[in-house]
Amino acid sequence: MGDQSRSDQIRNEWFAVASVADVRPATLYPFELLGERYVLVAGADGTVIAAADTCPHRGAQLSLGTFDGARLQCPYHGWQFDTSGTCVHRPAHPDVAVPAACALHTVAVRAAFGLWWVCVGSEPRNLPVYDAFERHPGLTVAFGPQTLSTSGPRAVENFLDVAHFPFVHDTYLGEWPHTEVRDYEVTVDASGLEATNVVAWQPRPGPTATEGGDVAYVYSVTHPACAVLTKVPSEANGGELHGFSMMIVTSPVTETSCRVWMLTTIRDPAGDLEGYRAFNEVIFAQDTPIVESQRPQRLPLDPAAEVHQRADRLSLAYRRWLADRGARYGTC
Ligand code: FES
Ligand SMILES: [Fe+2]
Repeated sequence: MGDQSRSDQIRNEWFAVASVADVRPATLYPFELLGERYVLVAGADGTVIAAADTCPHRGAQLSLGTFDGARLQCPYHGWQFDTSGTCVHRPAHPDVAVPAACALHTVAVRAAFGLWWVCVGSEPRNLPVYDAFERHPGLTVAFGPQTLSTSGPRAVENFLDVAHFPFVHDTYLGEWPHTEVRDYEVTVDASGLEATNVVAWQPRPGPTATEGGDVAYVYSVTHPACAVLTKVPSEANGGELHGFSMMIVTSPVTETSCRVWMLTTIRDPAGDLEGYRAFNEVIFAQDTPIVESQRPQRLPLDPAAEVHQRADRLSLAYRRWLADRGARYGTC
């Protein structure tokens, strides 16, 4: 990896790093973000900190050491750290006070949408907006994390693309010969991008549908690594209860690999959340070989680097928005 992340605004973005359910008390959860290794230290007392997974002493990987829920011990010279990151014991000098500089290099961490998010920069920016999560408590299901051999921005752009439905998701999200993409509007303001009236013909537009028909989506982007789609409820497609929202959450491991979660939030308290998770798994598996085949793996921001069609209005707006935000990591 180059050193692009150092000068990039990307360091001030929050990135999802783990599902909350996967980080159990008294465990370590190592992960890689922006080409660097980190670890979540989940204390037995319920605290969670995020730190560089590199010992401040001689750079050994801390998560190769031991952790009893209260003390993390480095595998190399046995320095011990408490669950706030303070170094509390150096076995080679048991009777000498430990300087504050021996502490772990911690970074900001917070929980949102059922995921742990980390910001490694000094001026954290906004989390993505995903209103559906709070509006429909308990009705979100997550699929992931899944690793993809491509940049996060390529994966997000794929999520924003409806023209591929009848090809990559034939009989699932689209069906030949219904290939035409009708015009839709894209607006850009201070909070991000929104595309409205994105209409796709789908073979099963609602849970009670007996034949194919149109579905309308709204897409929004308020964070460089995430995007939200909302299926606009309609009487023909099962009514209000059968609208739903989805958020793709990408986490950049390097500029050309990422981890991905797909969150789905439904409206119907009696809905089949596991069914949505399983459906996302199928759709994701259909997308994977295509997005991993794209070259370059980084998303080109120069409009002249690839050729476009009218259906690409949203993806072009996303590329411009990334450039304007200074989010260059995973782009070229
Ligand atoms: S490298 Fe960790 S204690 Fe020396
Ligand atoms: Fe797809």
